[in-house]
Amino acid sequence: MQKVIVMMGAPGAGKGTQARRLAERLGYPQISTGDILREMAAAETPLGREIRARQAAGRLVSDDVLAEVILTRTSRPDCASGYILDGFPRTLNQARMLERLSGQQGKDVILLRVVVSEDSLMKRLTGRRTCSQCGEIYNVYLRPPQHEGFCDLDGAPLEQRSDDNAESVTTRLRAYEESTAPLIDFYRTSGRLFEINGELPVDEVFRSVMNVVTGKRK
Ligand code: AP5
Repeated sequence: MQKVIVMMGAPGAGKGTQARRLAERLGYPQISTGDILREMAAAETPLGREIRARQAAGRLVSDDVLAEVILTRTSRPDCASGYILDGFPRTLNQARMLERLSGQQGKDVILLRVVVSEDSLMKRLTGRRTCSQCGEIYNVYLRPPQHEGFCDLDGAPLEQRSDDNAESVTTRLRAYEESTAPLIDFYRTSGRLFEINGELPVDEVFRSVMNVVTGKRK
């Protein structure tokens, strides 16, 4: 059966890090709503400006915009055999939309919730740097590049996201608790939600992710 794999977790839990690896291993596209919205935010249009302001402040973008983003992206041919969602769904409305969409597409949904304590999250987010070229994710405290400020893979400069500051991180964590945490109960009752210990090193977390995806862990 074709799969939709949803990476869930608080901001900074490691969804993007794991989704990138999973995409490479399975050959599925990684659909990061945060990345897609950041691209849309670069446009000098009312919508672009609205998204930019919301992201920078750490507030959620509206469900209507997200519905459009997901419908458009998942109808591309590279999603035919399956795809990985990184950062979606984040509200009950979005979860309901995904239930309808996956049903229409004939795909099973499994959810991997990456669990990390709140103490670790601030350090992970304020220390994060991302390659401006290939998107590889580093951390100045936890996973520094070999040459400060530059990507190990292609030498391009690393960037810091506008919402990776203490104030926006606090708002993002609150949005997660209020809007996204309730989804855990929504999915837990259906037996499709798997919890992953995200405190372990990246390789070990990935091993747990693969055990779930390949059905070794039931
Ligand atoms: P988004 O881009 O999705 O950000 P987020 O959910 O806040 O998650 P992050 O990308 O910050 O964290 P991550 O879990 O991917 O962690 P990462 O792997 O990078 O969303 C941004 C904004 O867009 C939202 O605030 C909202 O405005 C909007 N948006 C997006 N989707 C939306 C939706 N569906 N609805 C409404 N609005 C939406 O890792 C973090 C750091 O930790 C890195 O430095 C990494 O190197 C390090 N790290 C990762 N794993 C480990 C490990 N195992 N050990 C040590 N360090 C690790």
